[in-house]
Amino acid sequence: MPERIFIGVAWPYANGPLHLGQIAGAYLPADIFARYHRTKGNDVLMVSGSDQHGTPVTLRASKEGKSPGEVVAHYHRGFLDAWEKLGISFDLFTTTGTQNHAQVAHDFFLTLRDKGYIYQDKMPLPYCPDCRRFLPDRYVEGTCPYCSNPRARGDQCDACGKPLNPVDLLDLRCGMCGGAPEIRDSEHFFLRLSAFAEQLKSWVEEKSHWRQNVLNFTLGYLAEGLKDRAITRDIDWGIPVPVPGFDEKRIYVWFEAVIGYLSASKEWAQSSGDSDGWRRFWEGDVKSYYFIGKDNIVFHTLIWPAMLLGYGGLNLPYDVPANEFLTLRGRQLSTSRNWAVWLPGYLERYSPDPLRYMLSINMPETNDADFSWREFVRRNNDELVATYGNLVHRVLTLAFRNFDGCMPSAGDIDSESKALSGKAEATLNAVDGLLYSCHFREAMREAMALAHEANRYLDAKEPWKVINEDRDSAATAISTVFAVIGCLKTALYPFLPFSSEKLHRLCGFAGSVEEGGWTLSVPQSGQRLAPPEPLFAKLDDKVVEEEDKRLEQSVSPVV
Ligand code: MF3
Ligand code: ZN
Repeated sequence: MPERIFIGVAWPYANGPLHLGQIAGAYLPADIFARYHRTKGNDVLMVSGSDQHGTPVTLRASKEGKSPGEVVAHYHRGFLDAWEKLGISFDLFTTTGTQNHAQVAHDFFLTLRDKGYIYQDKMPLPYCPDCRRFLPDRYVEGTCPYCSNPRARGDQCDACGKPLNPVDLLDLRCGMCGGAPEIRDSEHFFLRLSAFAEQLKSWVEEKSHWRQNVLNFTLGYLAEGLKDRAITRDIDWGIPVPVPGFDEKRIYVWFEAVIGYLSASKEWAQSSGDSDGWRRFWEGDVKSYYFIGKDNIVFHTLIWPAMLLGYGGLNLPYDVPANEFLTLRGRQLSTSRNWAVWLPGYLERYSPDPLRYMLSINMPETNDADFSWREFVRRNNDELVATYGNLVHRVLTLAFRNFDGCMPSAGDIDSESKALSGKAEATLNAVDGLLYSCHFREAMREAMALAHEANRYLDAKEPWKVINEDRDSAATAISTVFAVIGCLKTALYPFLPFSSEKLHRLCGFAGSVEEGGWTLSVPQSGQRLAPPEPLFAKLDDKVVEEEDKRLEQSVSPVV
């Protein structure tokens, strides 16, 4: 029986290009997981979209002198282009700007209100008399009451990751004019999170399969007491509040963005011609995974689950495998200071798989992980090219040249050859188990260790020398390494899809790796191979210099 797997991936704000931190944090692991499950023959739905509302977008628009609509259209196109080039295989990547999303969000809002989980109340809010407006979320800055970070924003503290309300901040400042806001009452809607505290606590406590960091952060947040949260804002960019008298306000971006997981599933079902097809991924026996960066944890482990509990009938997350952060040459990424490697630039200059490799073998799963161009070039040259690429190329070339372009049949199998083919099978199983449980870095390391071992085997067997005296034992060595390649082609497919597809063709297979399934697929003896081509290219050391210079020239000084 195929399993049903729902994969929700964080919705990126359409207010800037993607950087490598977001890729390592959420998009790449989600894609690895989706490709793995599809290859296993499971029923997968992976969705996300542009998060196009809220102050992150309006602030960017006023900086660029554009309308919010222009800003989101521009970056949304960029996201789609990036997914295509990097091979992030969404079943649907939509936006929160669709009619469908507004309808689903309104239904959610009104259902929760009917059930008493949303109520209306007054709320004290910072109001800037100079700018003559309420200051929602990112329009206000101040000191975080939890960790004393002096530059926390009204929606969240980036230093400790806690979601905040604007009035929680100490030393309030208007984010636009720097002036001191006064506090005025404003009428808003609130989500009755407090009603779910007990239920959520027992639900979270059962989640022994969650990552330690996710579990600890969530339990810590629960222990401080779940408070009701305002879910409307004094802002004109966003989804209207479906209640008369609220024309000047909008639904809070976080409340509606998480609903995107459901609305995108409905949109996907509509366009696939079975408008009820989304139910397969939201009801009954499904595992729902949410891939997000660690700054989004409580929204996915507490707030979205509370909304789902209140709404009723829909599945809660099974796992939220949030990653830690990616640092850049040892320092935290900063988009505002331009200390970041931007994905569109990378994809213009290099191919996708080396980046997917680098971010997988060094994935920030349990700790922050660092990216540097030096490491990138080193890993590309010493690992991808020298270990994996070279193994494949040596063996494909040997077979192609010496056996009339076909797969040889093995001679007598000696004990080393037997051990290596056994190891290939064991590795495919090990990687299977590791990917199933979201241990991506370990899975990649396991596969690379096999490639290493196969290189050592090949160096010892020297089939290129032996072939003249003992064609049979050369054929054994070659076909044994083909078992390794058959394992790696599948095991590394979720990580390196472009190279695996290429290798699949080079081995003389038709169709795709995914269609072939999660198998150790070795060419039949006599199977015609394609003329060998290298899987990867060496990068010149100059790349390090060039890219480091690009980084240093674009970074703005600390202010
Ligand atoms: N746009 C948010 C961010 O970039 C993430 C939203 S995830 C969502 O931090 F699913 F809730 F939309
Ligand atoms: Zn803080």
